[in-house]
Amino acid sequence: MTAASAPHAPVGRGTIRTLTAREMPLLRAHLLRLDAESRRDRFNGAIDERFIESYAERCLADGTVVVAYVEDEQVLAAAELHQPDTSYDGLPEIAFSVEHHVRRKGLGSILFRRLITEAEGRGYERLRITTGYSNEAMRALAQKFGARLTFRQGETTGTIDLTPLALPTFGGRSMNRGASLKSIEAA
Ligand SMILES: CC(C)(COP(=O)(O)OP(=O)(O)OC[C@H]1O[C@@H](n2cnc3c(N)ncnc32)[C@H](O)[C@@H]1OP(=O)(O)O)[C@@H](O)C(=O)NCCC(=O)NCCS
Repeated sequence: MTAASAPHAPVGRGTIRTLTAREMPLLRAHLLRLDAESRRDRFNGAIDERFIESYAERCLADGTVVVAYVEDEQVLAAAELHQPDTSYDGLPEIAFSVEHHVRRKGLGSILFRRLITEAEGRGYERLRITTGYSNEAMRALAQKFGARLTFRQGETTGTIDLTPLALPTFGGRSMNRGASLKSIEAA
């Protein structure tokens, strides 16, 4: 079993799926439920509710793909794939948020894998992740999937290359339908 295998039991009775446009308010509610530290880790700084509300509206307007863990009509965890044309350098950005009470159960890993599949389906060859330098959880999660993050001016930035080569596995299966993640530094 590799580092990208899934040792955890299933999280609960929810489902993992891509949100429809109508469901995007669930993303906003999820982000608003994050505590201050999680918001800081997610957005690389202190942010208020107005920021989250306009951020969620932007995600709906600009076609951000959101893969989410949904339980009882609530998004408890989300992975975002931002379109390349919303990025300053044309690199699609990915981001993750898992509510506290469902962390360390493998959700982040499952969402990471699903997002890679989404990105691959869109023909993206590289993805970027950005987080704060002290975010050990995100660093560990990214490294689990082969992304090496580097520090620069308080931020940690990593680029994931999606290549049709060999491969971390996940739960005994190929992690990315035969594609691998190769880490490179980016900052
Ligand atoms: C980062 C985050 C998404 C991880 O979600 P998660 O569901 O807990 O992740 P997983 O359970 O799949 O854990 C994956 C790996 O990350 C590592 N990890 C998770 N939390 C960790 C922590 N607090 N400290 C150290 N490593 C940690 C572990 O190595 C774990 O591997 P394991 O399966 O061998 O235990 C979650 O902590 C989070 O939402 N944080 C706040 C928002 C944020 O920081 N987003 C990232 C910026 S885009």
